[in-house]
Amino acid sequence: MLLGPSGVGKSSTALAYMVAALARGERGLILSFDEPTGILLRRAAGLGMDIREPIAEGRLRVEQIDPAEVSPGELAAMVRHAVEDEDVRLVLIDSLTGYQSAMPGEQYLLLQMHEILTYLNQQGVTTLLVLAQHGLLGQMSSAVDLTYLSDTVVLFRFFEAAGRLRRAVSVVKKRVGPHEDTIRELRIDGGGFRVGAPLVGFQGVLTGAPHLASAGTRIAV
Ligand SMILES: Nc1ncnc2c1ncn2[C@@H]1O[C@H](COP(=O)(O)OP(=O)(O)O)[C@@H](O)[C@H]1O
Ligand SMILES: [Mg+2]
Repeated sequence: MLLGPSGVGKSSTALAYMVAALARGERGLILSFDEPTGILLRRAAGLGMDIREPIAEGRLRVEQIDPAEVSPGELAAMVRHAVEDEDVRLVLIDSLTGYQSAMPGEQYLLLQMHEILTYLNQQGVTTLLVLAQHGLLGQMSSAVDLTYLSDTVVLFRFFEAAGRLRRAVSVVKKRVGPHEDTIRELRIDGGGFRVGAPLVGFQGVLTGAPHLASAGTRIAV
């Protein structure tokens, strides 16, 4: 699960995982609830990830889904078809927030999600779930807590430093085994994105308004 506020880079990061899977020769499916395919392609190209070729070759399928028109049952069938008939190994649901609006209620969403994820797990398929949180800086929340369904949760945050809006990324959960506990800077630009060194000079990055950890520490701007 990729969790964080709007515009922080969740979809782009998820897409980078998808591009890596495609490069390994795997097939992928993107269920896009939040944005038209054209926007997705344009942003991907701007970040140095051209996915038009794998789409044309049938290695990647992008389904733009209007929650008002597709029932939860149809969605589940779409996923099963992709796995069983097209040998898809990586499914990206972007976003659960959009998926949720296709559901009649929260309990229903949890049951549906649980069923789909259990199925994909049993098939050995990796699922990337994007979940947007309310708010841009500071305290944040999601309408529904789905983190318990995820094996790994990557948290994205904006923070403010030296007159710039910056991004931080950290792993907050991995169901099996240890994981890195540092908070690192994430930079997104035309060359793609880069994960920087741990933000050891700051205290309170996850609050959105950090201060310097100790006097004399230099901030890398
Ligand atoms: N070509 C680009 N160059 C620089 N920054 C970009 C580019 N494309 C997107 N971005 C940045 O990425 C952000 C969108 O990232 P996205 O993955 O869509 O976020 P999220 O899915 O978390 O809402 C934009 O707000 C912009 O800051
Ligand atoms: Mg997004």
